[in-house]
Amino acid sequence: STVSVGIHDISTATGHYALPLETLAAQHGIDPQKFLVGIGQEAMSLPAEDEDPVTLAASAAAPILARHGAENIRTVLFATETGVDQSTAAGVYVHSLLGLPRTARTVELKQACYSGTAALQFAASLVARDPSQQVLVIASDIARYALDSGGEPTQGAGAVAMLVAADPAVLELDPFSGVYTRDIPDFWRPNYLSTALVDGKLSIRAYIDALTGAWRDYREHGGRAFEDLATICYHQPFTKMAVKAHVALAEVAGQPVEKDVAAAQLADTLHYNRLIGNSYTASMYYGLASLLDHREDLAGQAVGLASYGSGSVSEFFSGTVRDGYRSHGRAAETRAGIEAREVIDYARYRELHEREVPVDGGEHELPRVTRAPFRLAGYSGHRRLYERNA
Ligand code: CAA
Repeated sequence: STVSVGIHDISTATGHYALPLETLAAQHGIDPQKFLVGIGQEAMSLPAEDEDPVTLAASAAAPILARHGAENIRTVLFATETGVDQSTAAGVYVHSLLGLPRTARTVELKQACYSGTAALQFAASLVARDPSQQVLVIASDIARYALDSGGEPTQGAGAVAMLVAADPAVLELDPFSGVYTRDIPDFWRPNYLSTALVDGKLSIRAYIDALTGAWRDYREHGGRAFEDLATICYHQPFTKMAVKAHVALAEVAGQPVEKDVAAAQLADTLHYNRLIGNSYTASMYYGLASLLDHREDLAGQAVGLASYGSGSVSEFFSGTVRDGYRSHGRAAETRAGIEAREVIDYARYRELHEREVPVDGGEHELPRVTRAPFRLAGYSGHRRLYERNA
């Protein structure tokens, strides 16, 4: 078909608290440069007691509905690896909080950090089939590793919502992409654990192998040449990972770059992730938001998107930035969301980390902390009770 399809609007939300990684380094008695330079992270977002992936998602999506209305949305795709229920899609709660039309389908998608990309591609297919419909895609996660573990400095929280539509105002997606799946135990979370397990070194190799596999497939399916991409937004478990991946991909593409050059080429995609940490499914899309908010010369240019989810699935795809994209941006809101975070000390962080969801099915009211538009009010009868924040 000849209809252009892609991202019409993109909006973000992050957690209420921030822990500077210098605080974590001091606590562990290690050089903060390991975090600031070695993994390329400055701080990580943490959810308030009354936030979860659903409230972050609803808060990210609300500005999109305020701008575009909801009447053409017939599908809600919620991507997460930190869902709140084994049965009900988290998107159903978001659908309710946002007052979306009853005449919509809603579903949750899971494959580690990759499923936001699956959601985006499925959304594009639905819109191509019927260009009068719009799809609300939301990627939302809270990245949580055990205290004192290797993954601890790469925690974070965030959601990115996107409106996928015909004749999009921000990014027109190319119809071709490259994909890759390989069963590999680099990172996973059994149903009985609330923190993820990871083989850090294996995960870095698995990311690069999967991504280069997806890149080769992208090229074989009509993908653009490496040098024709203005830049690439990578999945960012930590920003240094994007730089490592870019060096590896450039090599495979026959256009090798030094680490410093790679870091400079990607700089505009790294600003938000450096401050919020890993947001799993949302992470690459935070990278895209950062790029759109920090580069003024992208109209008509092609950008690459490099998605990776441990376990593992990767997809490399691309799109063309639309003329006038700057006037549809949300740089001020995203920056404000990051700057509004309450900076906490180590003791408070530890106390928050040790909180667990009650499993007794009783009545539990949560403290009123978040200033976001939606909050988790409490639990009752094994249900989560959400509300609009007064
Ligand atoms: N000054 C500057 N740099 C320093 C330093 C210092 N004082 N001390 C150490 N460094 C550098 C190291 O040289 C290293 O850099 P290179 O990788 O470029 O060599 C970097 O800091 C990290 O040091 P280590 O490798 O020693 O760190 P670590 O053993 O603590 O592990 C990690 C780092 C593997 C990323 C760990 O944080 C982790 O397991 N994180 C979670 C897993 C993860 O994010 N994996 C990414 C791929 S998987 C994925 O993408 C899916 C997902 O979202 C999870």
